[in-house]
Amino acid sequence: MLAGKHILLIIGGGIAAYKALELIRRLQEKGASVAPVLTRAGEEFVTPLSVSALAGAPVHRDLFDLTSEAEMGHIQLSRSADLVVVAPATADLMAKMAQGLANDLASTLLLATDTPVLVAPAMNVRMWKHPATQRNIEVLKGDGIYFVGPNEGGMACGEFGPGRMAEPEEIVAAIAAQFRQGPLSGKRIVVTSGPTHEPIDPVRYIANRSSGAQGTAVARALSELGAEVVFITGPATVRPPKGVDVVPVESALEMQAAVEAALPADAAVFAAAVADWRVASASDRKLKKSKDGLPTLEFAENPDILKTVSHMPQGRPGLVVGFAAETNDVLDNATAKRLRKGCDWIVANDVSPATGIMGGSENAVTLISEDGAEDWPRMGKDEVARKLARRIASALTD
Ligand code: C5P
Repeated sequence: MLAGKHILLIIGGGIAAYKALELIRRLQEKGASVAPVLTRAGEEFVTPLSVSALAGAPVHRDLFDLTSEAEMGHIQLSRSADLVVVAPATADLMAKMAQGLANDLASTLLLATDTPVLVAPAMNVRMWKHPATQRNIEVLKGDGIYFVGPNEGGMACGEFGPGRMAEPEEIVAAIAAQFRQGPLSGKRIVVTSGPTHEPIDPVRYIANRSSGAQGTAVARALSELGAEVVFITGPATVRPPKGVDVVPVESALEMQAAVEAALPADAAVFAAAVADWRVASASDRKLKKSKDGLPTLEFAENPDILKTVSHMPQGRPGLVVGFAAETNDVLDNATAKRLRKGCDWIVANDVSPATGIMGGSENAVTLISEDGAEDWPRMGKDEVARKLARRIASALTD
């Protein structure tokens, strides 16, 4: 999958540097060659010897290394790669990148390169959440730097939260996504998926039974055809696909904000089961039982994200696809829904309990467009997703 690809791997100074050794192995297994660069701080965590032994190539450490300057120099080193990967990317290294500093070999390579750069951040949760780091991330994203992770979890420092470096297999998947060629390469597609959770108070919420399986399969299938996928997911039970940009959200309002932030896009697929209503004024304190009787929840209508995007006067994605889960009169209801929502296609399905579709692994859908309705035979959700992705590819590349 990565045969013949040349990766310049910059290993920053963090405890996660040990995972970079495994990353080298995994990349080589996939046929890539790795030119390693170790920062001074990185050397405190892994030795140059183990890095170069695993990479089967000399490790670059010095900006003013006369031999390598004479042989090819840092400019060429930064440009001879197909992809520059920074793993772990420390808060310090990202701050340097955001500022354009070039005071050591790693930062100079990153400033000199004209090759795509993928960073795998790793740091303490407070450092990750610090406004300065978050500012730098925004700057780097604006500069076109790609990110993988960080993940949430326990850390070497004993704290818990976002900041753990993505696992080597996830980094390999993100690297593979960079090289993916397919009919959708160069296309950006937003996919919503999963249920939403609408808060009642800090501990309670209203939810629905969506597993996120179909939306996840669609995102994966689009990514496999080469699309850059922004995957905006409510709290689903299935894991998000690898190699896509995951934006986790909880409520419909958060999902809407995430969709707006993800546009413009070439296409958008709305597979999420968005709650129609939210509690009008969710309590910021846990509701208590009281002698005065039961609490009354007042509802407010959630924004219809699909409808809003379909009617955008400017910047509407070229193709907008909605889903319609119905329990009766599927065709009539879904056809009317397509017109009401203003989307181009509706993928309709019958979710009445007898079908076993909701929460199951199969789906039987009808694709409704302005050309009419087309029944697809019952098949796995993955196969529905692949068929839909191929359709999207032909619609976008016509
Ligand atoms: O109206 P209904 O929920 O049946 O419509 C389903 C379609 O509309 C799905 O594509 C769903 O993702 C989308 N939708 C939305 N925002 C809502 C409700 C539904 O994007 N508030």
